[in-house]
Amino acid sequence: MSLKVPQIPLNNGVEIPQLGLGTYKVEAAQGRALVRQALELGYRHIDTAAMYRNEREVGQGISDSGLSREEIFLTTKLNNAYHRHDDALAAFERSLQELGTDYVDLYLIHWPLPMYGLYSEAWGALEEIYASGRARAIGVSNFQPAHLETLAETGTITPAVNQVEVNPYFVNAEVTAYNQARGIVTEAWSPLGRAAVLGDPRLAAIAATHGKSPAQVALRWHLQQGFVVFPKSSHPERLAQNADVFDFELTPQEMGQITALDRDQRSGTHPDLEDRLDR
Ligand code: A2P
Repeated sequence: MSLKVPQIPLNNGVEIPQLGLGTYKVEAAQGRALVRQALELGYRHIDTAAMYRNEREVGQGISDSGLSREEIFLTTKLNNAYHRHDDALAAFERSLQELGTDYVDLYLIHWPLPMYGLYSEAWGALEEIYASGRARAIGVSNFQPAHLETLAETGTITPAVNQVEVNPYFVNAEVTAYNQARGIVTEAWSPLGRAAVLGDPRLAAIAATHGKSPAQVALRWHLQQGFVVFPKSSHPERLAQNADVFDFELTPQEMGQITALDRDQRSGTHPDLEDRLDR
């Protein structure tokens, strides 16, 4: 089966499918089957991370699908404890091994951890990985404009994406505007606010107008802003529903109404405060 998922060009010309499967909080035991199911439904973009501890199962799910590696856009991320140059290179090798592949499509620094002051060093390692061809694109996650400003001074490559928290209850306008102004694609993590937005009456009303679900309307709000999304679900029927979002369009008024739901309500940690160094 194939889905009609638009591709967005990154700043180096590589194209990324605008919708994929997120695997945050996907248990390793479940990950293998879930990834295979998503690929069977037509998903061609999987987002994982060393921190999620499911890279091996993601790789197995890809292998089980019978698809060739080139048909899939695969992202993983550098875990927090490995921002030192040599540690980052070694962590990347381990991720490739776990995933059972010899390249990724996108490799991200997972969190900036400004209190350790090492993200520029980590970025230098990612630039080397990019130069080696084993990551088709490199980027960052949870970077605030100040962190990106630092990379602009210390690095040589502009990140292709910045994966940050965005949902109708956390519009994150300053960061997404900054990304856009610099040609950095915004990837919205937890696009449904970890399901928090799904009971919203305004979203439900707009959904009813279109004969769609609140989840589909929320995803459409992201897509029409040009964001990349990877909703996570452990239910195959919801995986299918979440990908069925390319046959309707929100009006500018509806877009504005959804943006106005903003409560500045994060479901995750502020990027300046995240300091976990799990290995
Ligand atoms: P479940 O895994 O039980 O389907 P986010 O991607 O923003 O983190 O949101 C993920 C959460 O949203 C999960 O709790 C998931 O629950 C739920 N979810 C994902 N898609 C849908 C959907 N189409 N309808 C209802 N809940 C959904």
